[in-house]
Amino acid sequence: MPLSQTIATRTFRKTADTFAAGAKTLEQKYFVSPEVFAEEQEKIFSKQWVLVGHQGELAKAGDYLVAEVARESLVIVRDKGGEVHGFYNVCRHRGTRLREDRNGRLSAIQCPYHAWTYGLDGRLLGAPHMDDVPGFDKADYSLHAVNLALWEGFIFVNLGDSPTPLEEWFAPLAGKFSHWNLAKLRSAKRIEYDVRANWKLMFENYSECYHCPGVHPMLSKVSPYDSAENDLAKGPFLGGFMSINKGRSLTMSGDACAFPVKEEEEEGEEEKQRVFYYSIFPNMLLSMHPEYVMVHQLWPQSPERTLILCDWFFHPEAFDRADFNPDDAIEFWDMTNRQDWHVCELSQQGIVSRVYEPGPYSSRESIPAAWDREYLRYMR
Ligand code: FES
Ligand SMILES: [Fe+2]
Repeated sequence: MPLSQTIATRTFRKTADTFAAGAKTLEQKYFVSPEVFAEEQEKIFSKQWVLVGHQGELAKAGDYLVAEVARESLVIVRDKGGEVHGFYNVCRHRGTRLREDRNGRLSAIQCPYHAWTYGLDGRLLGAPHMDDVPGFDKADYSLHAVNLALWEGFIFVNLGDSPTPLEEWFAPLAGKFSHWNLAKLRSAKRIEYDVRANWKLMFENYSECYHCPGVHPMLSKVSPYDSAENDLAKGPFLGGFMSINKGRSLTMSGDACAFPVKEEEEEGEEEKQRVFYYSIFPNMLLSMHPEYVMVHQLWPQSPERTLILCDWFFHPEAFDRADFNPDDAIEFWDMTNRQDWHVCELSQQGIVSRVYEPGPYSSRESIPAAWDREYLRYMR
């Protein structure tokens, strides 16, 4: 690493550590209260850009996925011109839910009730017997659209009335990940986890490796827990990198499991031996390894329950090669994920106790402290 970068990184760490000084974990109500949960849904999940998927899931015209954001069901669909749209999953006739399944492919969106039919661009195309209704004009009954935009191939939606444009929101990360080819990666596997813990515990857990020696013995052998350096220590995007021991990989076998995700020439020797971890407020965890990218979506279901979708992305050319062994990485992180969710569930169990009170963060927990601070900013 060039000297200037080393100094910059050290400055970041120092700033981050200062943040942690005196910081304590959140009060109990933030993990158990239905009122706080409702407030989060209103102030955060209904107003911020939230991750719902990756454009690779909608490869062809008519491919769609259904996402639930702040109790609103949305249909995200690719139209015939290749554009991705988001619509409320609500018929304009009598409000009926249009799609019940989670994903699929269709040529038009037809309501199951009275067969009103919408194009992939949301326009109402057919409405049986409505021509007899005086003044009825199909043009007035397109599906309600939701704000949707792509960042590095990831699909984000925002339920707000006039949100900050996505490019503006992601401006602090502009160009930072462009050499990772995120937009063209393809998911080889998705695993869903139903975790009995508040969603914030998973962010706090992801944001430190203080717990790694005890919780993740296998991970710690390959990626030293004290190698963490943060390069984003404030704001809605937080994280940095950790080193991977030379010649090793974060897989069960310890060997690389696929063709690298980045172009070789873009990669310095040091970067090849690093794993980058970033949390993107409020529902994305982005973990970039030399040969795969793991992405978690967090979906709070109640104060004490969170649904987590985890995808493992690879370079599109990796899939057809003889050395492609995605299960080696999937198994490794499935094990590590479960170790994390287990301690999060244990935290939840203790936090509900009458004796719980906010505890002091260590100097290795500056990022969870920064995350909490950012979260509280939105809740004010
Ligand atoms: S409610 Fe959808 S067509 Fe009647
Ligand atoms: Fe962990």
